[in-house]
Amino acid sequence: MGRVKIDWLDVLSRVFGFTFYTCLHTNHRVWQDVAEILAKCLELELGAHKIQNVMIESVKTHSSSNVPISRHHWTQVALWISDEFEKFGIGKHELISDFSVYLSGEEVKEMPYVYRTYPWGEKNIVLLEENLNHLTHGTTGLITWQGARCLLDWADWSQVLEGQRVLELGSGLGQFGLTAVQSLGLKELTLSDFHFSVLNYLNLNIRLNLSQHKESRPTFEQLQTYLEEGCKEPFNEETARYSVTIYSDLNITSQIKIQHLDWRDYKSELLPRVDVIVASDIVFAKELHQNLARNIIIL
Ligand SMILES: C[S@@+](CC[C@H](N)C(=O)[O-])C[C@H]1O[C@@H](n2cnc3c(N)ncnc32)[C@H](O)[C@@H]1O
Repeated sequence: MGRVKIDWLDVLSRVFGFTFYTCLHTNHRVWQDVAEILAKCLELELGAHKIQNVMIESVKTHSSSNVPISRHHWTQVALWISDEFEKFGIGKHELISDFSVYLSGEEVKEMPYVYRTYPWGEKNIVLLEENLNHLTHGTTGLITWQGARCLLDWADWSQVLEGQRVLELGSGLGQFGLTAVQSLGLKELTLSDFHFSVLNYLNLNIRLNLSQHKESRPTFEQLQTYLEEGCKEPFNEETARYSVTIYSDLNITSQIKIQHLDWRDYKSELLPRVDVIVASDIVFAKELHQNLARNIIIL
């Protein structure tokens, strides 16, 4: 039997770009896989510059390259590359400028927000989220929880959402909804949450990932500002209440809307008519169970 020849530079290119845009810290385990592949390329003496050019190219051509990446993340990655190269006796002076420019030695402040890419098959979903605290602005909805991924796995496996009108309760940033609506054949999707700030992020994430026209997509400059300040429009606490936002210019065939829905306080006549209700990670607070159960019965 013949031996399979592996193109390690190609493997590195795929894995590095993907890992870079997860925006996870370089001490996260996802970077260990990249370290092993990089070590393989260095062992094979494929050339320090050639290897780095493949890495930087995979970042520049990735589908998430339209979102700004914080200088802090770049610096972390550059330091990580420098350390990995050093293990093979390759010094800092061998780093290409795309990476070495981040190694000035001065401390770079971590941003409060981060654009994370969540891959799902051929699709990449980019979400702006907070990376420091689990609870911010009085909600747990400004980071993505692992339950969203579990819900996706279940929906993909069961295919029960195909052709259905779906309501998601406590959507958070929309990892489940934005992925499902692009890959699982939903007829309609209503994303809902009680917190005005979460609704703002949902709106941004829909425009960022699904806008058909360039004019409706946030500009690079706006995205850069959101990295530092978060995104504040279109809702405040007052205007969010009972609001429904319907989108008409998205590059998907399913209908999608965002609805303000607080399980403790809602108008029954405004509740959407749906076939399936889904949710992930919303039963963490016992005091909400009764209201949530009542709301589901009415729905
Ligand atoms: C732990 S997060 C889960 C977010 C998302 N489902 C996920 O898995 O990533 C819980 C979500 O429930 C929302 N939530 C909490 N209390 C709520 C209420 N009374 N009515 C509606 N949503 C609520 C929060 O704003 C938050 O988005």
